[in-house]
Amino acid sequence: MATTAVSTGRRTDMRRVDAFERFLAIGAALLLAVVLVALFRGRAQWHLIGPGIWLHLATILAALALTPVMLLRPRGDWLHRRLGYVWVAAMAGTALISFTIRNTNHGGLSLIHILSAWTLIQVPLIVWTARNHQHVRHRSAVRGMVFGALLIAGFFTFPFGRLLGTWLLA
Ligand code: HEM
Repeated sequence: MATTAVSTGRRTDMRRVDAFERFLAIGAALLLAVVLVALFRGRAQWHLIGPGIWLHLATILAALALTPVMLLRPRGDWLHRRLGYVWVAAMAGTALISFTIRNTNHGGLSLIHILSAWTLIQVPLIVWTARNHQHVRHRSAVRGMVFGALLIAGFFTFPFGRLLGTWLLA
């Protein structure tokens, strides 16, 4: 009886959106808005951008748009699983495509590519923990990915003369 109560309590807790997840959801929505504004302001230079960057932007826009939906809506149902696969595919695609983009470090791999490699390790972990009902590890891996990859990498696409920052201030 006691075990049931504890496990029921834990399940309820896992499904509750906490303050950090609300912060991540708002961060992703704000970043999406700023990226869209930057893209719009840079429209005169769209023709200068290669297919790799466009693909990277397309997958990241999908991930950014889905992030608040995934974090704020109920977890564990049919739609969560379906949208979850789209989200991890978008993140994996973003990371994979990034290996074709080498604008810094004289055409070689740069520090940000470490984040891409980390993302490619995290994606299967996120799927595996979900499929094996390891909810605590699943939740923590997703939170780490949203904060560590999506928001941090996203933020750093603006300073230091990078493309989106240049367009935003144009
Ligand atoms: C909001 C999220 C993101 C946006 C808007 C974004 C956008 C961009 C853009 C426009 C570029 C090419 C132009 C430039 O370097 O300034 C780029 C390059 C790159 N991005 Fe992203 N990105 C995001 C997230 C990510 C994530 C999550 C990863 C890794 C998992 C990543 C990895 C990379 C790498 C490795 C490069 C190449 C850097 C280099 O040239 O050395 N990006 N990103």
